[in-house]
Order: sequence, then structure tokens, then C-alpha cells
Amino acid sequence: MRPLIIAIDGPSGAGKGTVARAVAKKLGYRHVDSGAMYRAVGWKAVRDGVPLDDEEAIAALARRSRIDVTAADVSIDGADVTRAIRTPEIDRAAAAVARLPKVRTVLVEGQRQLGAGGAIVMEGRDIGTVVFPRADVKIYLDASAEERARRRAADPAHSGGPTAIADVATALSARDEIDRTRTASPLAVAADAIRIDTTSKPVDQVVAEVLAVINARI
Ligand code: C5P
Repeated sequence: MRPLIIAIDGPSGAGKGTVARAVAKKLGYRHVDSGAMYRAVGWKAVRDGVPLDDEEAIAALARRSRIDVTAADVSIDGADVTRAIRTPEIDRAAAAVARLPKVRTVLVEGQRQLGAGGAIVMEGRDIGTVVFPRADVKIYLDASAEERARRRAADPAHSGGPTAIADVATALSARDEIDRTRTASPLAVAADAIRIDTTSKPVDQVVAEVLAVINARI
């Protein structure tokens, strides 16, 4: 079978990470969380005190950083930031740097290199629309706002923030709003994406639906 490029997009808490990881494992493909790259840049900008709206400075920072995203961890310039990038502060920093077109150009280039040989499941917001507009399979995962907030509040990878679902829901919808309304590559459903609503569906069922879409395409 030809090595495919599979794009999985959607808002926070839609289940992209869990589903993308399981689908990649099933196919023996590489799984790449593109959001972790925006998070790593946001983390380094905060650490170095670079203003999050200084497009030139953040793009330069992204360009000179080495970001490694593996199935298990994320590092930037050799520093393991796997846990450090999953905090409410970095949620906001990542969304802020992701609005900057020059920063996106740098990270999209890296994402395209990772996917050049295929055999990859990449998750994000613009994978099917911008990074790989000719991806073999495009999936858009969504879920109700309540369910997405519940999942995020229960996610052990996320630390250091409000755990009351109402607070998580407020922060999540603020970030979604930034992602959907920004000018550069806003979160959007690609015209040829298959949309799957994951609200109240067990993970196994969503994974089976995604694999069925992939099988139907090959
Ligand atoms: O997916 P995750 O929530 O970890 O992504 C963090 C942030 O990175 C998102 O809020 C979004 O602003 C940005 N992002 C993006 N494009 C992607 C992946 C993530 O703009 N492909």
C-alpha cells in the first residue's frame, strides 16, 4: 500500500490526539501533533520574555529553534518540554504565536518536511486546508463545547490550571474563538474533509470510523 498522508483537524478537546495516535499505531505510521510545535514556540517565547505579538522576533525564534516532536515527547533545542507546554499559560501563548503568519510559515515548512515521505497521521487546525491540501484522507473531528471542556478538564496531561469545568469551558471557547477568527489559516473544515462528531462516542468507535474512511479511500 502506498504510504498515505492523513490529516486530522478540529478544535481543542475534539479527541484529535487520542484518535490520531491510535490510527497511526494501527497503520504503523508516524503520528505528529502539530499543535505541540506551536506550544513549544510559545513556551520558549514566554521563557525568553519575547512579546507574543512581536511577529518578527517570534518568527526568528521559531526559525533558529530545533523542535522535535516524537510519539512520546516534545523538545525544543534539546530541552524536554513535554509537560511544560500543557498549562493554561502555554495554551494562551500557543494560540497567540499561531496567529502570526510568519511564525506559521516557519512551522508549516517543518511540518511539510515531516510528511514528505507519507506514512504519517498529522493532527492540527490547518493540516487538511494548508499544510497538506492534497492529503490522501482528511478528517475533521468535532464535539459539543460541553463535552470538549469535560475532556480537557479530565486530561491528566494538562496541569496547573483551573479544573472547574466552567472555567475550562471559558478558556477553551476563548482559544477556539482566536483559532477560528484569525486571518492566517483559521480553523476551518476542508471542503473534502469527512466530519465526525465525537460527542458521547467511545474512542474505539471513532477510531473504527476513521479507519473505515481510510480503507474506503485506498
Ligand atoms: O492542538 P493544541 O491545542 O495543542 O494546539 C495549540 C494551539 O496551536 C492551538 O490553539 C492553535 O492556536 C495552534 N495550532 C494551529 N495550527 C495547528 C495546530 C495548532 O494554529 N496546525
